This record gives sequence, C-alpha cells and structure tokens, in this order.
Amino acid sequence: MRQHLTSREWLCEQHIKTLGEISLALGEKDPYTQAHGHRVALYAMRLARQLGFSPDKIRNVGIGGLFHDVGKLALSDRIFTNRETHLSTDLQQEVRCHPLIGAALLKHIDFLEPVVDFVLFHHEREDGNGYPFGLKAGEIPPGAKVVSIADCFDAVTTDRPYQKGQSIASAYEILREGCRHYFCEAYVEIFIEDIQENGIIQDTGPDLLLADELVRSAAGYYAM
Ligand SMILES: [Fe+2]
Repeated sequence: MRQHLTSREWLCEQHIKTLGEISLALGEKDPYTQAHGHRVALYAMRLARQLGFSPDKIRNVGIGGLFHDVGKLALSDRIFTNRETHLSTDLQQEVRCHPLIGAALLKHIDFLEPVVDFVLFHHEREDGNGYPFGLKAGEIPPGAKVVSIADCFDAVTTDRPYQKGQSIASAYEILREGCRHYFCEAYVEIFIEDIQENGIIQDTGPDLLLADELVRSAAGYYAM
C-alpha cells in the first residue's frame, strides 16, 4: 500500500484499476463499444448539466455513460462478429442481459453505488416495454433516462460494423419519434437544443483521460 494513501483511498484506487482493465478488455473484444461509451459519457454529462443536476450527479451520470455497456464483455463473440441488421432471437435474449451483468460488475464497488442504476436501467422505456424490468416513466431514474438518450443519439449518428451512421437531422427525428414510447420528451428537447448549440462530439476514439478523471474524482469524493 502506498504510504500517503488511507486504506480506503487505496481500495478505491484498486477498483479504478480493475474498471480500467475491464474497459480495456471490452475494447479488445469490441472497439466500437469502448469508443461509444466515451462519447455517451460526454453527451450524458452535457444533458445532465443542462438539466441542472448537481456536480456529483453530473459526474455519476458520466460514469454511467462510460460503463453503460460494460456488461457486453460477457456476451458471446457471435454478437460482436454479427454483420446482419437484426440478431437472431437467442442472441437478442443474450443482449438483453447486458444491463444486469454490467450492474453486477459495478455494484460491489461501493463508491460507484450511485452509478449502478444508470447502467441497470439504460434500456428501460417510458412506456414500460423496455428491459430488463419493464419499468415505467416515473420509475426510471433521471440519470438512466439521460444515458438512454445519449446512447441512442450516438448509436444513430456513428458508423457501426453493420450500418452507416445517419445524419443529425435523422437522429433528432428518431429521438422525437421515440418520445412516444422510449424517451422523456422534455429531456429530448433539451438534448437537441444542446446539440444545436454546442455541436456533436467529433472525437470517435476512446478518451482515456476522461475515463480516468471521472472515475478518480468519484473515488476521491467517496473516499472522504
Ligand atoms: Fe446497452
């Protein structure tokens, strides 16, 4: 243990290293998911700031965005090598487990406890037809709604192995259409205003500094 660290700080630092390794492992399996996580973190923090979330909550939403798909690490390689637009039913079922797996990975790290729900509920829908629990609008934590909108926008506007990214105008349309079933309408409009004002995130590579800063600042805060 390093001399200047308390045992709690040391423990938090070890958890940071573990998360970094998990994230790198996922990046090797699926480079898209890793870069996507970094962009989702940035978009989610921008929306959280516009919504007036506290600085702690903005940071937690950012970490939720960063690790929202970390549970995909446990999915079979067939999912990552799939080049079809639609997955078979059995693979779809497998994909639907990733929020549960991600939350299970994070939940034993006590300083990340406020982040777990953002990972666990990022595929819930306003109409109650999401997964894994089918929560309805009022039951879904605001931070999870933020991550969900950021996730959709980035997924639509960037190239994936099986589909080309769409225009920003199409992404606005998809988000607005999605308000009927998926997303919180008020959040979507604020998100779109922010994109119109501040633009999209151009960097498509993993921002390792962002990841490090986010998780370290959470560790520092909770170690106190
Ligand atoms: Fe996901």
